[in-house]
Amino acid sequence: MKSEKAEPARIVVLVSGSGSNMQVIAEACAKNEIDGDITAVISNRPDVMGLQKAKELGIATDVVDHTQFPTREEFDANLIRAIDEHTPDLIVLAGFMRILTSDFVRRYKGKMLNIHPSLLPKYKGLNTHQRALDAGDKEAGVTVHFVSEDLDGGANIIQAIVPVLDDDDEGTLRSRVQIQEHVIYPIAVKWFVEGRISLNKGDAYFDGQPLPDTGLKLTQ
Ligand code: GRF
Repeated sequence: MKSEKAEPARIVVLVSGSGSNMQVIAEACAKNEIDGDITAVISNRPDVMGLQKAKELGIATDVVDHTQFPTREEFDANLIRAIDEHTPDLIVLAGFMRILTSDFVRRYKGKMLNIHPSLLPKYKGLNTHQRALDAGDKEAGVTVHFVSEDLDGGANIIQAIVPVLDDDDEGTLRSRVQIQEHVIYPIAVKWFVEGRISLNKGDAYFDGQPLPDTGLKLTQ
């Protein structure tokens, strides 16, 4: 992407909560570690910290409140309008807690990333940390992946692995994983805007080579 145009990549970030991943990506853009700009942060909830943080960072914000729409299709249509106003090169889901329609996902195929706090394909969906603890897993982690129509099922780009300690509870494990979220999401966004990662027929490629099913692995 970088070689095709001089302008920094236009990134729209979707949030539903605290926005810590959005913040680290914004900071990496500000330091020119990522050749991109977050042109908007859009939330489906009106009063979240993620919007507040975006405003403090001087980033445009918008709210498309899902409770105002009778169907998922109408919500998604309005979300598309809000996103497309910013003509993004990349859409980053950062703690965006809505299931998206197939039409929405297809529209942004190959240019929408998500972060999920498990070693996908393990533990799609919610309560990932507790599920890892309940299963007695010795390792947990986080995955950045392309978004596909299959919930948390698109091709993996990068995973960070952390140990599960004997005295971990959900909170301690979440904190250990979140430190790694803030490492790998800016890396994945940087690779995307540099044109190093791509999606082809459902598979992720890095520098033209197919990635393993796990994506690239960072081990602690
Ligand atoms: C992260 O744990 C992410 O993995 C999950 O939602 C959380 C978002 O955190 N999808 P934040 O809003 O970026 O702080």
